[in-house]
Amino acid sequence: MNLTDNTFVTISSVAHYFPPTVINNKYFENYLDTSNEWIVKRTGIHERRFALNGATSDLIIPAAKECLRRRNLRPRDIDCIIVCTVTPDYQFPNTAAVVQDKLGCRNAWGFDISAACSGFVFGLSTAASFVKSGLAKRVLLCGADKMTSVLNLNDRNQAVLFGDGAGVCIIEKSDLPNYGVIDQVLHIDGSGGQYLKKVAGGSFLPAWHSDVKPEDHYIHQEGQTVFKNAVTEMTNATFNLLRKQKLSNKDITWFIPHQANLRIIKSVGEKLGLPNEKVVVTIDKFANTTSATIPSAMSMLWEDRKLRKGDNIIIASFGAGFTWGASLIRWNPYEA
Ligand code: UT7
Repeated sequence: MNLTDNTFVTISSVAHYFPPTVINNKYFENYLDTSNEWIVKRTGIHERRFALNGATSDLIIPAAKECLRRRNLRPRDIDCIIVCTVTPDYQFPNTAAVVQDKLGCRNAWGFDISAACSGFVFGLSTAASFVKSGLAKRVLLCGADKMTSVLNLNDRNQAVLFGDGAGVCIIEKSDLPNYGVIDQVLHIDGSGGQYLKKVAGGSFLPAWHSDVKPEDHYIHQEGQTVFKNAVTEMTNATFNLLRKQKLSNKDITWFIPHQANLRIIKSVGEKLGLPNEKVVVTIDKFANTTSATIPSAMSMLWEDRKLRKGDNIIIASFGAGFTWGASLIRWNPYEA
């Protein structure tokens, strides 16, 4: 997919949802050997949202309803649902089916994408390709994770890092050439799988085996290895994308990186030569919500009326797999 093709695809609407329960860093000080100071200094996180009940689909539904409302569409106008998540409601049926039923999208088919923190970037390319090919007219693209379902809240190395949330957008044809989802750079390197994983619950280590250890059901992360790779690869992917499009860093209006650590975000922003004002940060209030970080950040920018037609937005991610990538979006929203 590139500028030489003559069908253009855009993000016509975007919305997000975070559960109402705010968990600040003091909460963890009460029972873990940690401190507000350590968490803020090492990660940039001040607070996050925890869903006290429900599943990932319950985070998606309010965001999806608002996304449809903003575009003035009904559930039956959606013909494909893609849910990017590593915390599906069930192993099967897929979460797209749960969302289809709960929302009443009676004309839709769909499926889930598992690419961890790169879920939304991979999902955007998939959805855009479907619309470009004519396979779908309007895709409801959801990035959502209930990270508390896989989080060991008694392990300070992970408890403080994640939150729950959802971001949803609608992908459809663009009425303007050269606007919308323009191009992307996507990668996977399975040799990095050992550094960020949850091993139990799949076919390798089914949950019912008596020798499954509780920690196998939680996140395992070798933070420093992931950190270094995230900085290098998000930077490289973004530079490669700019080069492909014959653009420079000066052409970027907004850079929306995956939100895993403020130090990663700042380091990538500096390597790209971007001023702080162009680098979008939401990790302070919502922590790492995996597939939801990028679409929710985009939705908040839109709500703050900061997105203008023609803005060059680059989204970039890095996560388990390793998976990583970057996409260029030239903003062209639906205007009622
Ligand atoms: O979203 C998917 C991709 N994920 C990422 O991109 C995350 C990348 N990695 C990171 O963001 C950082 O590596 C972490 C935030 C996970 C960890 O920060 P760090 O500065 O790399 O710390 P570290 O893992 O090197 O640990 C340093 C020390 C350790 O103590 P010792 O062994 O030196 O005594 C940890 O046990 O910090 C300790 N520590 C904590 N101390 C207080 C780890 N977590 C905490 C905590 N409170 N919550």
